Amino acid sequence: MLICSRNCPGPSSLSILALQVIPLNSINLENSQIYLSSDSQLHMDPNVSVQNPEKKEQSSVCVGREDDIKKSGRMTAVVHDREVVIFYHKGEYHAMDIRCYHSGGPLHLGEIEDFDGRSCIVCPWHKYKITLATGEGLYQSINPKDPSAKPKWCSKGLKQRIHTVTVDNGNIYVTLSKETFKCDSDFYATGDFKVIQSS
Ligand code: FES
Repeated sequence: MLICSRNCPGPSSLSILALQVIPLNSINLENSQIYLSSDSQLHMDPNVSVQNPEKKEQSSVCVGREDDIKKSGRMTAVVHDREVVIFYHKGEYHAMDIRCYHSGGPLHLGEIEDFDGRSCIVCPWHKYKITLATGEGLYQSINPKDPSAKPKWCSKGLKQRIHTVTVDNGNIYVTLSKETFKCDSDFYATGDFKVIQSS
């Protein structure tokens, strides 16, 4: 019996393949959605995409309506398997990886505050500050030789990956960053950590 693991209601594409009596050795099973199990049955692997992954990651994805984010100030979305948060703050849109670069905290639940004139999301877990515009981690430094001096705000560099937001005809689109540098937030945007739990 042929099985489609996506539980398609009608005859699966695999059934059509069988009716056309395509010999198994003519199907390229490498990197395919189709695999042969130990009991000689054909299965489809829902985790394998047939799309060109590079092409997929370049496309922008509609994540919602401008009216909605203007009311709530933020929204979350999954863009090509990557979880992002989109903020609407002071008339501008900002998108970034949803999990904090420090330890995976849920940035969509943080407060936005200004530090040194820069708008930042404050992670609800350990209060790290991340600039909305650039994804820099900010911290305050004190000169140990002059502890009475006012602490200075400094940047740790780009820590949270920022994505591009565009608005077209009232729809909001997110395009994932194509920057090739390694960003700390990548760790929590991929692999076992990529699905955020409701908190
Ligand atoms: S997880 Fe965000 S500050 Fe620690």
